[in-house]
Amino acid sequence: MNASKELRIGLIGTGFMGRTHSNGYKRVGDFFPKLAYRPVLQAVCSRNLEKVTDFAQQWGYASVETDWQALIARDDIDAIDICTPNEWHAEIALAAAAAGKMILCEKPLARTLPEAEAMVAAVEKAGVRNTVWYNYRRLPAVTLAKQIIDSGQLGRIFHYRANFLQDWTINANLSQGGGNWRMDVASAGSGVTGDLLAHCIDTALWLNGSIRDVSAVTETFIKERVHEQTGELTAVGIDDACLFHCHFENGSLGLFESTRYARGHKALYTFEINGEHASIRWDLHDLNRLEYFDHRDASALRGWRSIHVTDGEHPYLSQWWVPGLGLGYEHSFVHQVADFLKSLETDEPCHPTFLDALQTQRVCQAVLDSAATRSWQNTGIYEAVQ
Ligand SMILES: NC(=O)c1ccc[n+]([C@@H]2O[C@H](COP(=O)([O-])OP(=O)(O)OC[C@H]3O[C@@H](n4cnc5c(N)ncnc54)[C@H](O)[C@@H]3O)[C@@H](O)[C@H]2O)c1
Repeated sequence: MNASKELRIGLIGTGFMGRTHSNGYKRVGDFFPKLAYRPVLQAVCSRNLEKVTDFAQQWGYASVETDWQALIARDDIDAIDICTPNEWHAEIALAAAAAGKMILCEKPLARTLPEAEAMVAAVEKAGVRNTVWYNYRRLPAVTLAKQIIDSGQLGRIFHYRANFLQDWTINANLSQGGGNWRMDVASAGSGVTGDLLAHCIDTALWLNGSIRDVSAVTETFIKERVHEQTGELTAVGIDDACLFHCHFENGSLGLFESTRYARGHKALYTFEINGEHASIRWDLHDLNRLEYFDHRDASALRGWRSIHVTDGEHPYLSQWWVPGLGLGYEHSFVHQVADFLKSLETDEPCHPTFLDALQTQRVCQAVLDSAATRSWQNTGIYEAVQ
């Protein structure tokens, strides 16, 4: 490894994302050896000492903390990585910014629009580097879709369609709160809108530009669930399913659907874009493939091409194996770490920044407001997402 400059990471939260990020920090130097910076696993924080100590030993962190404020107060930490449930994102980010730390924050940026706005104001005031882990952008097939769209090959865009379907909350006996924080509106902020559609919206804003207005419907199929903290049957405040349609600024129409009640689907994130000349579609369950249809092909041979995005000239692939061998979900996080480290070298922002993620938050808020009021809502986006 050539990297000589250290980026000392303080990671908060040792669950699903704590693992994906730790893996990203550990792998990046092996596969992106020319980066000037290398992450150092300086400290990890979670509230339970035994569990966080086990995690530190497994992943190779040099030290542990059980209080995130103590972690932020340390002067041997350069960057705070927020992998906690959504309820902590704003409070931790505000404190980290005030302490002058770089911040890598999990999505959605926050539970609510005011929280997200405060986070953007805090990083801008402090002038600290920031990024949000909308990791699907960094899958090679999705990055290739961006390159194809930006080259203008699709022509005028007419339709953008995205789904994110799961089936894990159909059981009425599933509780809310605690480990099931996604089911508790106080912790998550919203249901599928902030958890799943936020991914679809981030990708859509990046690929197809700003969304002007939205019309949405949400449903909570199971109205009461036992809360882990009280043991009481408590009203469910999250949206179990959300459908919305929208106008993009480029004149195209968008159609989005997300639910945790689509029996048979575990994490079916798909998108399709239909342009004047060509269309693109992608499916997370077959993540190394990008499908492409071009009407300009000779009619006898015209049809959907299935591009196996594993060639050396495809995005990120020159860093990995030989053509034909696929990457997985975890590589998107390795790529995001690589891009963040590169941004330190180039002194460029690492998109999506907090400001980019704020635009996604605006769309989420407009979607929830639209569903609540049964009316069209403007998103109020004023910054193009990069
Ligand atoms: N980018 C993605 O694709 C993706 C996927 C899953 C989750 N997420 C996001 O990542 C975040 C974490 O989700 P997860 O699935 O890893 O959750 P998780 O429940 O698996 O892990 C959360 C961790 O945070 C810890 N924690 C909670 N409160 C804490 C506190 N006050 N101080 C220190 N640690 C605390 C918990 O002990 C746990 O280790 C959420 O914001 C979620 O939306 C993003």
